Amino acid sequence: MAERGPLLGATLELDVGTVAHGGSCVARHEGRAVFVRHALPGERVRALVTEDRGGGYCFADAVEVLAASPERVEPPCPYAGPGRCGGCDWQHASAPAQRDLKASVVREQFTRLAHLDVSDLLEGVEELPGGLLGWRTRNVYAVDRGGHPGLRRHRSHEIEPIDRCLIGAEHVGNAAALGDTWAGLSGIEVARGTEEDTTLLAHRPGPGRQSRGRRPPDRVRVVTGPSTLHHRALGRDFEVEAGGFWQVHPAAADAFARALLDTVQPEPGETAVDLYCGAGALTAALAVAVGASGSVVGIESSVRAVADATANLADLPQASVRLERVTPTVLAALDVAPDVVVLDPPRAGAGREVMTALLALHPRTVGYVACDPAALARDVATAVTSGWRLSALRAFDAFPMTHHVECVARLDPA
Ligand SMILES: C[S@@+](CC[C@H](N)C(=O)[O-])C[C@H]1O[C@@H](n2cnc3c(N)ncnc32)[C@H](O)[C@@H]1O
Repeated sequence: MAERGPLLGATLELDVGTVAHGGSCVARHEGRAVFVRHALPGERVRALVTEDRGGGYCFADAVEVLAASPERVEPPCPYAGPGRCGGCDWQHASAPAQRDLKASVVREQFTRLAHLDVSDLLEGVEELPGGLLGWRTRNVYAVDRGGHPGLRRHRSHEIEPIDRCLIGAEHVGNAAALGDTWAGLSGIEVARGTEEDTTLLAHRPGPGRQSRGRRPPDRVRVVTGPSTLHHRALGRDFEVEAGGFWQVHPAAADAFARALLDTVQPEPGETAVDLYCGAGALTAALAVAVGASGSVVGIESSVRAVADATANLADLPQASVRLERVTPTVLAALDVAPDVVVLDPPRAGAGREVMTALLALHPRTVGYVACDPAALARDVATAVTSGWRLSALRAFDAFPMTHHVECVARLDPA
């Protein structure tokens, strides 16, 4: 529910400026910043203020375009638009414009959060094969009080009922379950592997209530389909728990692993550590690169992911996976001296303490796979403070139509 502020509900005529992280563009009104969704840089729009907390900024939706950008296109999805589904941010932008917007965001995050100009390192955001639609191999649909599935509106608990999600892959975006009602559930999740194996999972509200912070995570269980999905990347097969982590774009695991190998260049016989290793996609790539005379240690906190990774890496005896949380203490006690450290943390990034601890292992290089350029920029800033430098940076459009962008970075001792 939006909080009350002086502009809430007002319609403003705005000149839209640069893109902001999160899928909006920045305009100014009477000295305040207005983050405008459904707009593009350079446009003049009429915008409805949807959220105003009375501070230095507010949020608005462009409800009418008075002067359109040449990059504006008709959104292919009927549920995209002001006040509608919050899943996509850039349905109204051409494909090259989407990638340019994301490149601007990555550069701006580094400038603002790491005080680094990455223009010379970042050539642009690279396209993955498959186009803008039909790529998501996992969707979580929210379920309303009546049991109808849909997708959440932007910054809202309200649900937009949908009968199809156009960015969802076959059997995910058009899942038969969207036509059913799911009383008592908080959501349904549809996930598929490289083949057409598809699993439907039910989300129920988590046990108990927390006194503060976010509500507890959903309890998730398989309704139909295999409990393990089959994925193929880097010419290898991976079996992964249906509800477990795997990159949602079908070409992403392959692209990120190749970019990582290209940048950290593991040598035969070297020792690597793969932090937040999940089901072992990057661990396997590193293990093949260092060969039988090298070694790779993966660290992962999910019991099921560790079991999947251990099975997925069974033919690579130089790779092992440990069930542990990545913490400064665990890193300080590590019984290996890595030549290469790789990390692929959750969205919040590694954080200052973990970054400091992993750099204290004195690897010759660090490879960082990041799904949030802001978190990456903060962690890179920590590394720079510790005497390291950002020596390579690539970005991939692994989430077309949305504001999300994946980066692969390399850090070296300065
Ligand atoms: C972005 S995924 C990366 C998975 C893997 N690198 C891949 O490419 O498939 C992040 C992983 O970190 C794990 N994780 C989250 N917090 C962690 C922590 N504090 N310590 C260890 N693993 C953690 C999650 O379970 C998840 O598997």
